[in-house]
Amino acid sequence: MLILGIESSCDDAACAVIETSHAGVAQVRSSVVANQDEIHRRYGGIVPELASRNHLVTILPVIEDTLAAAGCALRDIDAIAVTRGPGLVGSLLVGLMCAKGLAQALAIPLIGVNHIEGHLLAPLLEYRIAMPYLALVVSGGHTSLFVVEDFGQYRELGRTRDDAAGEAFDKVAKLMGLGYPGGRIIDELARRGNRNCVKLPQAHVRGAPLDFSFSGIKTAVALLIANGTPSVTPEDLAASFQETVVEMLIRPTMAAARTLDNGTIALTGGVAANSRLRTRLSEAAAAEGWRMVAPSFKFCTDNAAMIAMAGSYRLLRGECDSLDQDAEASLAL
Ligand code: KG4
Ligand code: ZN
Repeated sequence: MLILGIESSCDDAACAVIETSHAGVAQVRSSVVANQDEIHRRYGGIVPELASRNHLVTILPVIEDTLAAAGCALRDIDAIAVTRGPGLVGSLLVGLMCAKGLAQALAIPLIGVNHIEGHLLAPLLEYRIAMPYLALVVSGGHTSLFVVEDFGQYRELGRTRDDAAGEAFDKVAKLMGLGYPGGRIIDELARRGNRNCVKLPQAHVRGAPLDFSFSGIKTAVALLIANGTPSVTPEDLAASFQETVVEMLIRPTMAAARTLDNGTIALTGGVAANSRLRTRLSEAAAAEGWRMVAPSFKFCTDNAAMIAMAGSYRLLRGECDSLDQDAEASLAL
């Protein structure tokens, strides 16, 4: 079965074709992402109106490129899976309306997918993972710990009380005048810095050891910059900030792991592309008898292969959604 995935929840317009067998094993035939970084860079963050307007221009060419790369045509597609929330409502609507139009015209099933479910299942595109598994979802909009009990059954153990980890990377990069999006730039810069140069505060949420908080560290960096610290290089500050965020992600993750039977920790979402987080979490997991897996970079950040993957298990069960479904900016999992 060939499933076309469409994702436009934020600033990336993405499409993918995956092939699934009845055993549920998926193979990615093609995955294309039209990135809008150039458009939003001058504003230092995503401008929702510009994101949705740009999706209108790029979504059809992205779908055409995806089909060409997969070596198939629209008539070969058996079903469509599309993100219907959470996200920016204008952006979501472009992908959803496009998917509805295609499903109607081709008379094939349509599945509306939760973006977070896509991130949770993205590791399955490349790894065989026994369920239940523990998943740390870290992106620009979300930072949460989940137990993936089964397809469609997700138990949230902890979440951020304020900023998402990716948001903290982006805001600190902006404060440091490094550009947008900040995560990748800080990751690069930190390679040449001293991680122990600046002592930054690690937030603990009282009474909720599995929750996260990143607004304090952002304020600490803002104060540091405002007070001027001539002896601290941008490399040192980037490395110290990144190390602290990595520690703040690892502590609740391993605390959650200790409440479960050993198995796999899946690291997923845009911040899962962070090189230091991948290394440190993998070490921390191994030290306590866990396996850590993280998708390739292209499946960490927003992509449509993970959306097609999340839609595929419902299709295999014979489920589909009606053409009446709506985009929901705050869709719950
Ligand atoms: O999952 P994603 O593509 O979009 C959302 O659903 O939010 O995540 C984007 C986030 C941005 O905040 C970006 O700065 C961050 O992922 N990111 C990184 C890295 N690459 C992307 N953060 C830290 N290190 C990286 N290498
Ligand atoms: Zn995402």
